[in-house]
Amino acid sequence: MKILVVGATGYIGAVVADRLAEAGHEVVELSRSGDGSQRGRVRRAGDLTDPSSLSAAVTADIDAVVNLATPTGDAEADAAAVAALTEPLRGTGRAFVYTSGVWVLGATGPEPAGEDTPTNPIPIVGYRPAIERQVIDAAAQGVRSVVIRPGIVHGRGGGIPALLVDLARKHGAPRYVGEDAVRWPMVHVDDLADLFVVALERAPAGTLWHGVTEPAVSVPDLAAAAGDAAGVPGRPQAWPLDEAREALGEAFADALALDQSVSGDAARRELGWQPRHEDAVAELRAGSAN
Ligand SMILES: NC(=O)c1ccc[n+]([C@@H]2O[C@H](COP(=O)([O-])OP(=O)(O)OC[C@H]3O[C@@H](n4cnc5c(N)ncnc54)[C@H](OP(=O)(O)O)[C@@H]3O)[C@@H](O)[C@H]2O)c1
Repeated sequence: MKILVVGATGYIGAVVADRLAEAGHEVVELSRSGDGSQRGRVRRAGDLTDPSSLSAAVTADIDAVVNLATPTGDAEADAAAVAALTEPLRGTGRAFVYTSGVWVLGATGPEPAGEDTPTNPIPIVGYRPAIERQVIDAAAQGVRSVVIRPGIVHGRGGGIPALLVDLARKHGAPRYVGEDAVRWPMVHVDDLADLFVVALERAPAGTLWHGVTEPAVSVPDLAAAAGDAAGVPGRPQAWPLDEAREALGEAFADALALDQSVSGDAARRELGWQPRHEDAVAELRAGSAN
């Protein structure tokens, strides 16, 4: 397939673009940084805030579109961007894969939340459930629309876990936001990229999948591993939420303090997704050897 990847320059998008290419697909990148050719790939100019640039990029030769761009933060603009990306696909059965995230589930309680669990979004992703519904509803207009909700993404020295390493280094000791009992659902960026590949190849229209391999990883354990990776080993300290809010902004600090347990079993069972990285704590700690 010839696949337009929106957000191909990002942490997740770059790995997804490479994995799609390895799987034999032709990748066309879309970025705000303009037209041209990058690493032998065609790059088209586009911006989520400019819907006409998006629909212009979805030319007739594009078989599928993946949106891995960071949302603008404006509900109307993001809805218009999804409409612009899906409109050229209407009535064609071509795929549109939208990236949401597990924060739309809010605090989950002890049992792992599945794809049918009602959403209860925290403020930082308040309007994302409406965007998810917009994407799912595009199936009724002949688009093979799919939503993927990644857990907290780790690996290749990036993502939010890398922030824990930076925090440990900056403060001279490992630390985490919130309570001792906070857990994050995790996925390695390479495994997540594999999920995008199988979803593009075989997910039915109007479906939603959790991209999670470990349902509930202890955040203090992640922080301890981050301390090792930063060269400041020791017992991690809880960073009081009000102080973290001041340093990181309220919405992001609250997201880091969110306790979740989320299942990614459905994608393994129904799409044949085969993740290979199942120990985020060990992988973060192993970063200390690099
Ligand atoms: N990282 C995680 O743990 C995680 C977890 C769950 C969900 N997600 C979701 O996954 C998606 C990607 O996350 P990420 O961590 O890979 O983000 P990232 O590294 O910050 O990458 C963001 C990408 O979005 C593009 N972008 C930003 N604003 C844009 C705009 N106005 N128009 C067009 N492109 C724009 C950037 O491209 P240019 O700057 O080149 O234009 C870049 O390629 C996001 O929707 C995020 O909410 C991430």
